[in-house]
Amino acid sequence: MRPGLLVLALVLVLVLVLVPALGCQVQEEHPRESHTLNWGKFSGFWYILATATDAQGFLPARDKRKLGASVVRVDKVGQLRVLFAFSRMKGCQSQEVILRKDGKKPVFRNTCAYAGLRGGWKGMKGVKGFHVLSTDYSYGLVYLRLGRAALNFKNLLLFHRQNVSSFQSLKEFMDACDILELSKAAVILPKDASCAHTILP
Ligand SMILES: *[C@@H]1O[C@H](CO)[C@@H](O)[C@H](O)[C@H]1NC(C)=O
Repeated sequence: MRPGLLVLALVLVLVLVLVPALGCQVQEEHPRESHTLNWGKFSGFWYILATATDAQGFLPARDKRKLGASVVRVDKVGQLRVLFAFSRMKGCQSQEVILRKDGKKPVFRNTCAYAGLRGGWKGMKGVKGFHVLSTDYSYGLVYLRLGRAALNFKNLLLFHRQNVSSFQSLKEFMDACDILELSKAAVILPKDASCAHTILP
């Protein structure tokens, strides 16, 4: 091979190897959050139809899984009270967290990591942040940051006012799972509302 051709071949190989690698990095960004959220409209009872988390032991065995639920309430300006119910290893468990607004963002944070933690909900490991990634108020894509101290876990939840999901919301859930690298952990919960209904307002 002539030296000129060799250089050309090397450049071609570099381009082929590096460009796809750069493309991957761009996709690792977090999903974009919805920036004009009406928390009053977002309040109320939600079914949790699907979840994807990297927290070990969050979900019980397959035959014990049920729909989750959440009741979101704006307590006072800048404060959110969120009640969750999930079917866990030891049966149906509920937990309430109180979160504070983070500036203008559609994000509420737990400034006092243990405040509002009721009982040993170990798998939940404390809710550090509650982010609404997108919503039309009939469904919501919610990203929870869980953990204690330096430990961090992700949990993506698909909220729905009804016990069935729409194609569009499920697609958004799967897309967000991809971005958060949680696709392998995505679980559509079985349509058993017996745990969810324990927190009906
Ligand atoms: C889903 O909700 C509808 C109406 O609210 C109800 O009739 C139906 O039984 C529910 N399905 C399940 C599996 O809970």
